[in-house]
Amino acid sequence: MAAYEYETHEFDVVVVGAGGAGLRATLGMAEQGLKTACISKVFPTRSHTVAAQGGIAASLSNMGPDHWQWHMFDTVKGSDWLGDTDAMEYLAREAPKAVYELEHYGVPFSRTEEGKIYQRPFGGHTTEFGDGPPVQRTCAAADRTGHAILHTLYGQSLKHNAEFYIEYFAIDLIMSEDGQCQGVVCWKLDDGTIHVFNAKMVVLATGGYGRAYFSATSAHTCTGDGGGMVARAGLPLQDMEFVQFHPTGIYGSGCLITEGARGEGGYLTNSEGERFMERYAPQYKDLAPRDYVSRCMTMEIREGRGVGKEGDHIHLHLNHLPPETLAERLPGISESARIFAGVDLTKEPIPVLPTVHYNMGGIPTNYYGEALNPTAEDPNAVVPGLMAVGEAGCASVHGANRLGSNSLIDLVVFGRAAAIRAGKVVDADAPNPVLNQASVDKALDRFDGLRHAKGGTPTAELRLEMQKTMQADAAVFREASTLSEGVEKMTGVAAKLDDLAVSDRTMIWNTDLMETLELTNLMPNALATIVGAEARKESRGAHAHEDHPTRDDENWRVHTISRVEGNKVELSHRPVVTDPLTTEAEGGIELKKIAPKARTF
Ligand code: FUM
Repeated sequence: MAAYEYETHEFDVVVVGAGGAGLRATLGMAEQGLKTACISKVFPTRSHTVAAQGGIAASLSNMGPDHWQWHMFDTVKGSDWLGDTDAMEYLAREAPKAVYELEHYGVPFSRTEEGKIYQRPFGGHTTEFGDGPPVQRTCAAADRTGHAILHTLYGQSLKHNAEFYIEYFAIDLIMSEDGQCQGVVCWKLDDGTIHVFNAKMVVLATGGYGRAYFSATSAHTCTGDGGGMVARAGLPLQDMEFVQFHPTGIYGSGCLITEGARGEGGYLTNSEGERFMERYAPQYKDLAPRDYVSRCMTMEIREGRGVGKEGDHIHLHLNHLPPETLAERLPGISESARIFAGVDLTKEPIPVLPTVHYNMGGIPTNYYGEALNPTAEDPNAVVPGLMAVGEAGCASVHGANRLGSNSLIDLVVFGRAAAIRAGKVVDADAPNPVLNQASVDKALDRFDGLRHAKGGTPTAELRLEMQKTMQADAAVFREASTLSEGVEKMTGVAAKLDDLAVSDRTMIWNTDLMETLELTNLMPNALATIVGAEARKESRGAHAHEDHPTRDDENWRVHTISRVEGNKVELSHRPVVTDPLTTEAEGGIELKKIAPKARTF
């Protein structure tokens, strides 16, 4: 057994991750007087939410008629009928409240002439249950909305005395013998000390795992740490095969150009100068949902109408818009286009390509944020002491495809929901759990084993192999042969975790060891993604299967549940929640409005 001394801390609630969801949960917990710690491997305002650009969806009706039921319908249709209906109703209904709270906390939203929160159009957001024109529903702070939200929530959390443990890396969950989460074991990066956090409730808000792919808009910190810890605790992941490609990553660097660019009037062209989205989506054109736009761009490139020397990308035009609009509404991407593409977007188009952006799948939860461990008898069985929110979780409001600007609203609505729930189920006066020492020791043994790993495969080499395999074999379009080859390759890649070579054995700022821990988190996420994709014999949302090109509701309107152990993945299913939270008589949506139908634009 590895001998490490550690300091123990006791809290009511420990939130792991300080992005939008983590901070909103932290703030909500602390506001209620729960003793709350927030642990983050980076300084909170450097979390990946800082990169969210275009905005946050809520039916405020500031720029024209809107209704929460239209938002709910768009989310249901966007999810390609795989989202859980209760959670989607909760999201759409609570969104306006959550945005007004942000406004009152101090988020500096852009304003209309009358001083209301400015809202722009975004893909897939419509009026009249998809029959009307696009709606302006996405509330924006120029094109730096995530940045504005993150700084505000961090300030508010400090004001309410939440305690921050910054640059602490979460190694593993502490689980009792009977399956209750009791806390988390952490490594403090800047002085090498070990810390054990004992908590009545742990909230995983660790973000997505975009870095399982070679080219992603996600920060290098997006390594699926929550999913990795959950998998090692013997708990499941859900719907991991659904990976979103954002249509407009800058060609080469993958840096995000917000969908808000098309919301403000930007459009895509092919090598013939054609606005090809008019052909594929006559009603919504460039504002069709992103899974659809990404596929259309890929088809244009495949059919020889890509732009550039190698005909391998597409042009995004903003040069027809007034420079004042670009300066006021899109200052951030004006800078990104200049730095990462060498383009002055007032004069030239930006070269773009669909780029991995978001994971619809994650740790299964109910709409309170409580983590689930589905069984055949109880598909909604709750894991005591554990919640997951934001991109790390799967509530599931995005189903098979997320609408743009539904991510920021997911973060705050479910961060807030988790806090409301914790206020009910966490007893601040009760003693903390007696920790399962075997679970603490197991975490430290794993840490020590990696620290002294003497195999033949350097971490960076194995990470690249994983990223290239995922990029090639679990892409925008998927086919049976490459998916099964991909599963075989990834099974081999994951097996090489047993042969890792770590060269730095120190404890202070050991980035070699930190990247190795991150790789052990990325791997189960990646493996579950490709195995789930190979198994799903239909096309739905972001999962476009060339050998099964249509959606199959009879057999596949189900969530994929994956349990990963080593390089093996065991799959099962969990039913989709098809009932909304409220009936029509209670003011809820008419069921026929959200019944499955063909997804056209
Ligand atoms: O395009 C964007 O601004 C990204 C927003 C989102 O992913 O929700």
